[in-house]
Amino acid sequence: MFCSNNICCLRMISTTYFTASFILLATVLQTQALNNGLALTPPMGWMHWQRFRCVVDCTAYPDDCVSEKLFRDMADRMVADGYKDAGYEYVIIDDCWASKERTTHNKLQPDPERFPSGIKALSDYVHEKGLKFGIYADYGTQTCAGYPGSIEYLESDAQTFADWGVDYLKLDGCHSEVLTMEIGYGLMGRYLNETGRPIVYSCSWPAYQEPIGIQANYARLAEVCNLWRNWDDIDDAWVNVTSILKWFSDNQDRIANYSGPGHWNDPDMLIIGNYGLSYEQAKAQMAIWAIMAAPLIMSVDLRTIEPKFRDILLNKDVIKINQDPKGIQGKLVLTKDKIDIWTKPINPVIDNQTSIAIGLLSHRVDGYPYRLNFTLSDLNLDNKSGYIIKDIYENSTVVEIAKPDNTVFIKIKPSGGVLLTATPLNPVNVQKV
Ligand SMILES: *[C@@H]1O[C@H](CO)[C@@H](O)[C@H](O)[C@H]1NC(C)=O
Ligand SMILES: *[C@@H]1O[C@H](CO)[C@@H](O)[C@H](O)[C@H]1NC(C)=O
Ligand SMILES: *[C@@H]1O[C@H](CO)[C@@H](O)[C@H](O)[C@H]1NC(C)=O
Ligand SMILES: *[C@@H]1O[C@H](CO)[C@@H](O)[C@H](O)[C@H]1NC(C)=O
Repeated sequence: MFCSNNICCLRMISTTYFTASFILLATVLQTQALNNGLALTPPMGWMHWQRFRCVVDCTAYPDDCVSEKLFRDMADRMVADGYKDAGYEYVIIDDCWASKERTTHNKLQPDPERFPSGIKALSDYVHEKGLKFGIYADYGTQTCAGYPGSIEYLESDAQTFADWGVDYLKLDGCHSEVLTMEIGYGLMGRYLNETGRPIVYSCSWPAYQEPIGIQANYARLAEVCNLWRNWDDIDDAWVNVTSILKWFSDNQDRIANYSGPGHWNDPDMLIIGNYGLSYEQAKAQMAIWAIMAAPLIMSVDLRTIEPKFRDILLNKDVIKINQDPKGIQGKLVLTKDKIDIWTKPINPVIDNQTSIAIGLLSHRVDGYPYRLNFTLSDLNLDNKSGYIIKDIYENSTVVEIAKPDNTVFIKIKPSGGVLLTATPLNPVNVQKV
């Protein structure tokens, strides 16, 4: 191939080098497993994208623009308003933080107007609050919003992030070769590992493969990444919650068993507290994200969130279900009267009988709180001594003590969510109740 200019030559050389690395690594990486000791329960934190997008005009949007002030404000609120105590840990920058130009040494650098103190200073600020710091890059020639991509600089960008004290990297996949992703994301994982800094690694390759009909290699994902986005971005609407859940339930038998301690399917951010969800819908998103062992990444203005939405995000009993150490991703087990019922095995296990979290999501729009009836055996719960059923959003009060074949009645509001736990009884504690 003839090169008419230096840039073309450089690209050719780096592509050739890159291809050679790929072939080498494809063989080396086959037996490696991700073992960075991170994300043993689904990661919890805050990320700017869904709520703040790529707002870069700090004159027109002084409070909303993607700037060091925004992340400092959120870190402040996470500590002051109880999110940190509830388990939310990572403050994560998404796209649009970077300068459009790399440095003369080809390093990434932040936009100088919006991040005048630099990323290291912001990371220090977040760490001083006892929180962890995350950032965004792209496995391609450009990020989704047109900022510099990392494809030609994966190793040096990994080092830059480690030097900045990054604890979590979201590596997006715009403007890249979809078929090289499985190997290329593995390469970046190796570079992150080689920095010696523990960095949670959030991958995006299924979100680029699945929508074009390629089934992602989930066994490989679990070896390379701590979490991965499976499907499209969430927007600020209920239809996005339900359509994402439809994809996850349609594909659950193929993907759910790859979630577990250290490696998680990621249905995308919580949109609770923004403009698109009602209070009931917000409870529903939180309930089913808990059941799915999904990462709990908020994307909301924590300075102005209404208390009732904050209380959903801070509900300790819901978070406990999400963070259950078994790390099992729940599944949709029954749809009845336009209400989806999801279940997830959780602790405690009593006499070899596991407790189960039960999430209900209503697709009904007919006005009144509908009285759904079902039996626990419909949900494959079969402990003969029965179960104590608690309503998590109602302060975990006991609603029923039911044997598998007893009919259970639960009221659920239109397009709302209910979260229950069913704890097995044994012949001994049956008598105590
Ligand atoms: C790098 O990988 C090795 C092997 O899996 C692992 O033991 C080590 O903890 C990893 N280090 C970091 C910093 O992720
Ligand atoms: C979110 O909803 C919008 C509007 O209906 C749609 O364009 C977009 O594709 C949806 N995304 C997902 C992931 O459902
Ligand atoms: C997950 O389930 C799939 C399909 O049933 C199966 O092929 C695969 O081996 C399972 N993987 C794990 C990690 O259990
Ligand atoms: C629990 O299950 C294990 C393995 O299936 C079995 O070895 C054990 O005997 C069981 N214990 C009880 C109390 O049923």
